[in-house]
Formats: sequence, C-alpha cells, structure tokens
Amino acid sequence: MSRTPCCRYLALPLGSERRRRYLFVMSASPIRLAVLISGGGRTLINLHQRIDSGRLDARIAGVISSRAAVAGVARAREAGLPVEVVSRRKLDDDAFQHCLTDAVVRLEPDLVCMAGFLSLWRIPDALHSRVINIHPALLPDFGGPGMYGLRVHRAVLDAGRAESGCTVHYCDNEYDHGPIILQTRVPVLPGDTAESLAARVFEAECETYPRAIQMIAGGAA
Ligand code: GRF
Repeated sequence: MSRTPCCRYLALPLGSERRRRYLFVMSASPIRLAVLISGGGRTLINLHQRIDSGRLDARIAGVISSRAAVAGVARAREAGLPVEVVSRRKLDDDAFQHCLTDAVVRLEPDLVCMAGFLSLWRIPDALHSRVINIHPALLPDFGGPGMYGLRVHRAVLDAGRAESGCTVHYCDNEYDHGPIILQTRVPVLPGDTAESLAARVFEAECETYPRAIQMIAGGAA
C-alpha cells in the first residue's frame, strides 16, 4: 500500500473523531510506531520484544534519540532497529524542533511513542493526538519539568504515598501532560528505596505501555 507523506490520517478532516478512529483501525495493522528515546532504551526494547514475540501487533518504523551516546542507541542498533540521532545539545531549540519533526514525519508513523524522551517537543498540529508518553508515577502527581528517573520515586517516598504506578497519556506541549489513556497502580512497600520502587513501577510499565498501544490500535483509546 502506498503511503501519503506523513501519516495516512492527515487525509481526514480535522476534528472528526469517528472518522479518525475509523481510518486508523481500518488501515493501520500493524500499527506503525516511531519511538523517541533519550536514555537507556529499556522501554523501547520491551516494545520490540513484545512485537517480536507476537504479543503486540505493531511495527517499529524507527527510533529517534535526542542523545548520541546513550545505551538506548546501542540497544536499538543491536536489535536491528533504524536509529536516527537528533542531538538536543548540538542544535538550538528551533533547529532541534524542526529536525525532530522532520525525522518523525519521515518515518510515517501512525503513533509516536515517547520512551524516556527527555526533551520537550512542540508537537505539530497534524500529529496532535498521535503522540503518547509513559511516566513512572500516577499523573497528575509527580510529573512536570525535572521529574524523571529516580527523582520521581524519591518524591513519591518523601510524600509518604502508599501507592505509586505508571501513566500512559497523550502528549500536549507540556511535560507529562495530556489526556490519560491508562494507569497501573503498584504499592509502596515498607523499606522501599527509590530504586526498589522504580523496579516495581517499571515492571508495571512493561505491561501497561504495550496494552495502551494495543488499545489505541484497536480504537479503544
Ligand atoms: C521509564 O521509567 C519511563 O516511564 C520514563 O522514562 C523511563 C525510561 O527508561 N518516561 P528507559 O530510557 O526506557 O530505560
């Protein structure tokens, strides 16, 4: 099937939810993903393994990293995935935004998955509601600028919360913000450290992110 520039759904009138879902479900099997990373790449590799083992009906069209020297880039290459680096450090913000959008559009994704992507991307209107993120806490709490990695889990412990979890959400142009698609709760246990809580939350993330992608692919989110 030939693909129109950018995403197939661009052909539809903006604002038509039913038609958006209809076209998406009918034409995008398996759903084509662009995955954005900045770090370790565990989330990316989890998605890749789920796809490989037939547990997620999707295809990773390509990976874009905002950093060159990170484990995620090496892991993606080892996994045989096409990787492009759009370096946040080497570009001013306008150039970064332009190059990132260009790299995403070239992949012709149905869905863009942020997977530990630490830069703010000004999402173009055409991709609005096609970009999702996973955050290792129960948003709207413990999100926003500076809330990443172990900082999130330390903040949860410092606040004395009995529960944490992860959130998959559509992205807008604010950090960790946008309509929530799916959340999974995990307990905070006595004696937890930020590391032990992070590991428990990450286990939940490995189930929750693929499930959310499958929901979107099936038109259920
Ligand atoms: C995950 O905890 C995810 O929730 C958050 O960043 C972490 C990514 O880890 N957005 P990795 O870079 O995939 O190893």
